Parts: sequence; C-alpha cells; structure tokens
Amino acid sequence: MKLSKRINDVAESATLAASQKARDLKAQGIDVVSLTVGESDFPTPKYIADVAIDAIKNHDADHYTATNGIPELRQAIVDSHKKLDKVDYDINQVFVGAGAKHVLYTLFQVLVDPGDEVILPVPYWVSFSEHITMAEGKPVFVKGDPDNLYKITVDDLEAVRTDKTVAVLINSPSNPTGAAYTKEEKLAIGNWAVEHNIVIIADEIYSRLVYNQTEANSFASTSDEIRDQTIIVNGVSKTYAMTGWRIGYALGNKDVITAMTKHA
Ligand SMILES: Cc1ncc(COP(=O)(O)O)c(C=O)c1O
Repeated sequence: MKLSKRINDVAESATLAASQKARDLKAQGIDVVSLTVGESDFPTPKYIADVAIDAIKNHDADHYTATNGIPELRQAIVDSHKKLDKVDYDINQVFVGAGAKHVLYTLFQVLVDPGDEVILPVPYWVSFSEHITMAEGKPVFVKGDPDNLYKITVDDLEAVRTDKTVAVLINSPSNPTGAAYTKEEKLAIGNWAVEHNIVIIADEIYSRLVYNQTEANSFASTSDEIRDQTIIVNGVSKTYAMTGWRIGYALGNKDVITAMTKHA
C-alpha cells in the first residue's frame, strides 16, 4: 500500500534501532550495557498495580472517559505538582494522553504552523525533531557549550531567534546527557521567552530521578510569568517504572490544553 509522504519523511527511531542492536548482540552472547531506551530497572510498585486491578474489577474503565483524562487523575497530577514543585494549576490545565510521546506529538500539532521554528538544543531525544517536522515546523538546532554539559544560554537562543520562532524545547534533566538546568539558568531562559512571547516546552519527564545533590526544580516554579509561558510535559513512565502503561500529561495554558483535547 502507498504510504503518505508525511510518514515516509519520518526517520526510523534511532533509539529503537540501537536497542534492537543491543538485543541482537546480547543474543550472540556479547556482554552489552544498553544505554538506549529510558527504562527503570525496578517493576511498577505493587500499590499502583493493585489499584489498577481493582479499577478493572470495578468496571471503572469499561466506558469512554473524559478525553483529557478523568478528573480524579487530573486532580492527582495537580496535587503532585503542588507538593513536589510548589506550583498551582487547576484541573482544566491538565491534558492526559497515551504517554509523554503522544502528548508531545499533540502539543506540536496545536502549537506549530507550517514554517514555524522550534529551537531544539542538541543532543536531544530523537523524537523531538520528528514531532516538529510532522507538524510541518522547522527544528532549529542549537548546541550549547560542552564544558557546560551542552546546556544552552540566552545568547545561544538569541543567536537563532527569528520572527518565526514559536517555541523552545528544554528537556531537563536531559535525555541523553543527564544535564539539569539550575533555577537561575531556567529563570534567564524563561524571562527571554516571556519577553519574546515564545512558548517554553519543558519536558521534565526525568525530573523525579535526580541524584548526587542535583537540584530538582521545574520551569513552572521559577516565576508566575514563566509558568504561564510554559507547557510542562511529564508522566509516570520513568518515575514509577510504567513505560508500558502509556500515561503522560501536559500542564499549562488553558487554551493550549483545550486545543490538545480537541485534537485528541
Ligand atoms: C525526554 C523524553 N521525553 C519523553 C519520553 C517519552 O515518554 P513516554 O514513555 O511517557 O512516552 C521519553 C522516553 O524515552 C524521553 O526520553
């Protein structure tokens, strides 16, 4: 069958190809440490599995639910961000989708028009550029200083900003570098984004997995103005070892969340 140009233009996932290669080498008896897909090395906690089993037995999931997620789940997401990041959202600012990847795809579909530019720091998780391209946008790659763990600065951003720039994507802590932006670094980037009305897409899916005194912080907790300029993307995949459950979410501007709900 003929496939669309849109999908033919999408590159094979380099992550999945590399992880298949690691599996093939392991099958040949070679000792391989696979740093490919981001998976926790512990199972989903029993207390989570138990309530999910109860929900199925109680027929809670038999019928269509709210497109943007059941209110109880959206409230739990709001509560957890209040507790961990000290930020306030209401449940109409939450969109729950089938994993953060689906949420990001939907987000780019609602934010990006053909030709719009999205600034993407390198190195980056491979799906980001494909999502931007599928929305007919243009990823604008920016490389930060290797001595600063490739983190980008306002100068780096200003060097590539044009009147077509609609968003900047910051993945902190980063896949693949692990680098986490400090609160001061986020404040500087956030104020730049507010000044130029550029949306910050903050992929914080690894924000609960920080070690060795690394400061855990969210873009949303830098200032109220920056929170309002930011769409937070997070989910349960990494934090709770639930990659197979496919639950991710976005938090932020109500109009964007409503548009994502319309798209879903
Ligand atoms: C930076 C980043 N964002 C999003 C995702 C997707 O997460 P999910 O399993 O919730 O789709 C991944 C998965 O590897 C990731 O590394």
